[in-house]
Amino acid sequence: MPSIVIVGAQWGDEGKGKIIDYLAGRANVVVRAQGGNNAGHTVIVEDKKYAFHLLPSGVLYNDKLNIIGNGVVFDPEGFLKEIKVLEDQGIDTSSVKIDERVHVIFPYHKRLDALQEEARGEDQIGTTKKGIGPCYMDKIERSGIRLGEMLDQEEFKSRLYPQVERKNQIIEKIYDGEGFNPDEIYEDYCRYADALRKYVTDTTVLVYDALKDNKKVLFEGAQGTLLDIDLGTYPYVTSSHPTSGGFCIGSGVGPNMLEEIIGIVKAYTTRVGRGPFPTEEDNETGDLIRKKGNEFGTTTGRPRRCGWFDGVMVKYTSRINGLTSISLMLLDVLSGFDKIKMCVGYEYNGEVLQNFPSSLKVLSQCKPIYKELDGWQEDISQAQSFEELPENTRRYIEAIEEYTGLPVSIVSVGPKRSQTIIRGKMF
Ligand code: GDP
Ligand code: IMO
Ligand code: MG
Repeated sequence: MPSIVIVGAQWGDEGKGKIIDYLAGRANVVVRAQGGNNAGHTVIVEDKKYAFHLLPSGVLYNDKLNIIGNGVVFDPEGFLKEIKVLEDQGIDTSSVKIDERVHVIFPYHKRLDALQEEARGEDQIGTTKKGIGPCYMDKIERSGIRLGEMLDQEEFKSRLYPQVERKNQIIEKIYDGEGFNPDEIYEDYCRYADALRKYVTDTTVLVYDALKDNKKVLFEGAQGTLLDIDLGTYPYVTSSHPTSGGFCIGSGVGPNMLEEIIGIVKAYTTRVGRGPFPTEEDNETGDLIRKKGNEFGTTTGRPRRCGWFDGVMVKYTSRINGLTSISLMLLDVLSGFDKIKMCVGYEYNGEVLQNFPSSLKVLSQCKPIYKELDGWQEDISQAQSFEELPENTRRYIEAIEEYTGLPVSIVSVGPKRSQTIIRGKMF
């Protein structure tokens, strides 16, 4: 049952798309299991850049099955746009399958997302405004509409109209916003349903059968562990489970079917949206990392907040995901720094914390304790092996391994497939 789980082990945008695309070359199936088109996964192939939001990042290979599992919240309009962009370039997307259980994002979800953010004022989360939170709210409230239901016109109509009526009440009476005409939504979504029908199936069977047949399955995390609704920096989180456990629920597989669990980790730390960030460098250092790493959101274009590698955080995300190794990303961005800092503890109220705190109040008062390492000046973007890396680069990798207790099984030195160093066997 060869399977590899790729999970973001920081606050998202760690480079999951690049690694999924790289490993998909060796896999048979790629599975998304949570989140929606709040994700932005970049894949670069032969100088061509693709940004995937809902589509699994294995879609550029035409012989892989690309699955959107039951735990995803699904925006039909966004999906069909992404498909069209690829088809216009002659890329075959017939390998994409969507689970009939995915919850559908409607226009009222997006509007509510924006209105709720506005109403939070100073306490805004900084969501992507894609309707993710409101759609998961309906799911948990047990009033959501699933894709399978949307494909049945009668059933869809009977579910949609009362739902629009309820949402209009909230939009108009609580937020003083403009409601929706249900006929328009119904017509648009019936058109989407016709276009989507060929992709929709029970994907839990496909994933199970693939694993039973010893096919290689890659599970593609979206967002990152610190954005998990339970284990992340609540309330500055997303509304799903971007942790390894989320794959069991979000694609219908048992935990014993997950074999390797690789944490995708930047050689530094970034965050989009609000919330505490102990190692943030809101200064020239952060600006330099942002510039060198081109740290601007793939989905919203927002500048990402930047800072040093936080070992306390990665130790935490390693523990709660059961990581078996780390894929260390964007290491090339750190070339040129005289000194590189790595956080190896938090100072809080005169005490040293080694465990990532659950309280945001505590986290926001934590001061990072840094280990300082000598940097390297060389351009490492063409390195093909660990041995080819400068000595100080190797020392940095070893310091991360030592502190986290995890092997660094992949080192990424650039955004392209060829800029990937694999250490040991992978699939
Ligand atoms: P994801 O959401 O985790 O898939 O990550 P994003 O695609 O949002 O952001 C990662 C960014 O880093 C993208 O622009 C990638 O092309 C880029 N990238 C990935 N790996 C590397 C690397 O090793 N070096 C550099 N310089 N860029 C990288
Ligand atoms: P990928 O898959 C980084 C952040 C938003 C916001 C919070 C809640 O590309 O790593 P939401 O729209 O989900 O309700 O927003 O989560 N966020 C991400 N940050 N990468 C992502 O995805 C993200 N998806 C959501 O910025 O702080
Ligand atoms: Mg991203």
